[in-house]
Amino acid sequence: MRINSPKLNIMYKACMKASKSLIRDFGEIENLQVSSKGPGDFVSSADKRTEKIIIDELLKAHPDYCILSEESGFINEKNKTNKWIIDPIDGTSNFLNGIPQFAISIGYEEDNKIKNGLIYDPIKNELFFAESGSGAFLNNSRIRVSKKNKLKNSLIGSGGPRSNSKIKDEIFHEFLKVSKNIEIPVRKFGSASLDLANVACGRFDGFWQNELSYWDIAAGIILVKEAGGFVDFLDKGNNDSQKLNLVASNSLIHQELIDLIKKNIVKN
Ligand code: IPD
Ligand code: CA
Ligand code: CA
Repeated sequence: MRINSPKLNIMYKACMKASKSLIRDFGEIENLQVSSKGPGDFVSSADKRTEKIIIDELLKAHPDYCILSEESGFINEKNKTNKWIIDPIDGTSNFLNGIPQFAISIGYEEDNKIKNGLIYDPIKNELFFAESGSGAFLNNSRIRVSKKNKLKNSLIGSGGPRSNSKIKDEIFHEFLKVSKNIEIPVRKFGSASLDLANVACGRFDGFWQNELSYWDIAAGIILVKEAGGFVDFLDKGNNDSQKLNLVASNSLIHQELIDLIKKNIVKN
């Protein structure tokens, strides 16, 4: 790893250990026992196994740090200073269907500020990581957001709505509105962390999605920022940390993308 960072080293070690079992599980996808966690939100035994390995490793390094993880919720919630944020498999539906587009995502916050992010795509063996003030990297190369300056010609990613969303129509309407103003069809790859990693390394010019959970995006936020991009939240009157409306892109198209999302009229 090109950044000499104690935090990233811990995250890296935990992630690599967990990814070994995740890769094995992906190879045996048909045999996995799948349990249902609510409509549209399936959690595999691999998910729980991966999460446990990551949590055990992180706790070994810092037994007192707070952990927010998708499957287990909070550990050491009283610690308001140091917090790990984990999504053991981001892209679960892809994973369960044998589609190689998923990642382990780990973020680290200090005093409520996101400091480190690490996103690992175990199938492509792509490790994205960033530390506040030290830049963003893919494997050992520095990455930067794209330089595209016209939204019309940009490649934009999105996702959702969740199956249990109460604002599905609004989300589809928004998707239509944005799509109609961009020449290249909007991509929906099904892993928000990798979508953000794609923005950070310039593959996507931008990404937006409504109702994201913090573990989907914690690592990706710092990655995009450290790669020179902008990240914003359109609150639409809600303060729910499980329903974050995020827009991330290079700085040149950022305002244009936000304006388009906020616009009321669908152009034909
Ligand atoms: C999901 C993915 C997906 C996004 C969903 C998330 P999961 O996370 O990030 O791209 O559209 O909103 O819930 O369930 O695969 O960890
Ligand atoms: Ca997720
Ligand atoms: Ca997940």
